[in-house]
Amino acid sequence: MTVFRGTFLDTPQNPFTGGALRVDTDAAVLVEDGVITARGPYADIRRAHPAEQVVDLTGGLVLPGFVDTHVHFPQIRAVGGMGMPLLEWLDKYALPEEAKMADAGYAAGVAGEFVQGLAAAGTTSALVFGAHFASAVDTLFTAASQVGLRITSGLVVSDRLLRPDLLTTPAQAHTESLALASRWHGVGRNRYAVTPRFSLSCTDDLLAACHTVLEEIPGALFTSHLNENDAEIAAVAELFGGSDYVSTYERHGLVDRRSIFAHNVHPTDVELKVLAESGATVAHCPTSNAVLGSGLFPLGRHLDHGVRVALGSDVGAGTGFSLLKEGLQAYFCQQLLGDRGHPLTAAHLLHLATTAGAEALGLSAEVGDLSVGKRFDAQLLRPAEGSPLAVGITHAADAEDVLARVFTLGTPADVRAVWIDGQLLQVDDDSPLEV
Ligand code: GUN
Ligand code: ZN
Repeated sequence: MTVFRGTFLDTPQNPFTGGALRVDTDAAVLVEDGVITARGPYADIRRAHPAEQVVDLTGGLVLPGFVDTHVHFPQIRAVGGMGMPLLEWLDKYALPEEAKMADAGYAAGVAGEFVQGLAAAGTTSALVFGAHFASAVDTLFTAASQVGLRITSGLVVSDRLLRPDLLTTPAQAHTESLALASRWHGVGRNRYAVTPRFSLSCTDDLLAACHTVLEEIPGALFTSHLNENDAEIAAVAELFGGSDYVSTYERHGLVDRRSIFAHNVHPTDVELKVLAESGATVAHCPTSNAVLGSGLFPLGRHLDHGVRVALGSDVGAGTGFSLLKEGLQAYFCQQLLGDRGHPLTAAHLLHLATTAGAEALGLSAEVGDLSVGKRFDAQLLRPAEGSPLAVGITHAADAEDVLARVFTLGTPADVRAVWIDGQLLQVDDDSPLEV
């Protein structure tokens, strides 16, 4: 058993439905076998558990580990592409890099960088867009298991319109996906996600095969892209006889509580209604939407319809692993929408980056906040003395103002320690995260 002492900020009550940021200063959580079994003022917890080891995190802020609901593992060496809309960016920038994943040795190097990058940014759970090659997806699950991250991922499948070396067939997709799931789904903290790239690159036969796989793996998730870019949406409508984008998935039984769709920048009201009724989640990826010029995410319309929304970094169109930066960009985006924007507070941003992600991934009984009964997946933010963030925190008016400054000024350099199931992660042997 371990007592963690510090200032804890989390969002067990949804700020989008009236909940407030929870702030406990000089508090403590007691962690037993990875689970929080008591929480309260430090003095009370200490009195009840005088003999337990205390990890003193005072002087920093303890937040739940972030939950990234959309991030591409094979694209980390392709962050930074500028000046291209989605389809050109895929052809010229992202997919040539993804083709290199055919080499399992190359993929293993990328996988190592990827999991370290996630952990160093305070991300403890992620829904990861895998690679088009089963051997590369193996390397990802292997690397995630070594670090201990909570990863859900799978083989990315496509059978048309992409470069030929990235294409598969429905039969091959079925066989390889099941083989990967049998090795990794439910093993350690890993889970499987059925992952057609987007319906633009998938025939109806392949999407039907995806549904078969989904039904054959109990507890698997489903993820893909949706309504990201005007040219993409027009091409999908053309290929599917004028259907809207959501129905290209829905007609194959791929839109339900297990589904997480990235982007959805340009939905119709009919599509939002279907998404809301199905319980599917939209992964809002704000830096990516800005980089590719995809558009301004209509968060208010999603909320009005009752569609679940969480946050994704969408590396490599997105600009890095930090959900602090995504939160800030989400805020910018709603500001830029003016009257059509949904005003966001720091509590909303923390909710989107933690609790909402855990709900999307079906993990809300385990992670997402730091309540009793949850697993201790957490991060310690402690900016360097004299840094703009440290100065900002010193001069903040209240805890919500502290959190606003964290989202505005914070970076992975401020993440000093990360725990999953109460275990301190060692993301890099040369420079372990220090408490
Ligand atoms: N749509 C299909 N593939 C991708 C991708 O890799 N990134 C983004 N942003 N959108 C996509
Ligand atoms: Zn994506």
